[in-house]
Amino acid sequence: INYQRATFLTSAPDIKALPADEGIEVAFAGRSNAGKSSALNTLTRQNSLARTSKTPGRTQLINTFSLDAERRLIDLPGYGFAKVPLAVKEKWQKSLAEYLMKRSSLKGLVVLMDIRHPLKDLDQDLIHWAVQSELEVLILLTKSDKLAVGARKKVLSEVREAAMAFMGNVTVHTFSSLNKQGLEELEQVLDTWYGA
Ligand code: GTP
Ligand code: MG
Repeated sequence: INYQRATFLTSAPDIKALPADEGIEVAFAGRSNAGKSSALNTLTRQNSLARTSKTPGRTQLINTFSLDAERRLIDLPGYGFAKVPLAVKEKWQKSLAEYLMKRSSLKGLVVLMDIRHPLKDLDQDLIHWAVQSELEVLILLTKSDKLAVGARKKVLSEVREAAMAFMGNVTVHTFSSLNKQGLEELEQVLDTWYGA
């Protein structure tokens, strides 16, 4: 798949506002500030396709991007950020949960975690839930440029070990939007999910 072809479709406050639930969708999920929007921009080679920010909680809507007539990429709001006002938090956590539970075209989840803070409780809950829902799961340990190669490999093997406990089809790779480490691996996994 040529990921450079991605174009913006819609920003949806809830699942009613999403494009028709057809074809194949892959969603990027993870804690606020994990690097979801940055990874989408790296994948699509477009600097400002998805909005990124130093301030956690930047992405508050379900942003959808089209790859072709049948395939879409989704940038989800992050979870686990304490400073967002409760009312706002409840609203988007609700649309996130609704999206994950009701979206039939959702084929797989890319779960992004900062390599320095992997597998927090909410990450584990999400992965468990995804495996039970028979979704494909790719764990991306993001910001791999923040660690030296040795430390990076150590975390990778620890998380791979831990991932076996999820009992599902869970793949783990390291990734950096800064130097594109892991980009090829990400594309290979997504190509198989999209059936290309
Ligand atoms: P929310 O939309 O708030 O949930 O955040 P997000 O997961 O979309 O994170 P975003 O892509 O906006 O990135 C958050 C911050 O991390 C920004 O300051 C990015 O520049 C930085 N960042 C993202 N990826 C990398 C990376 O691979 N390496 C480094 N060093 N910084 C990164
Ligand atoms: Mg974002």
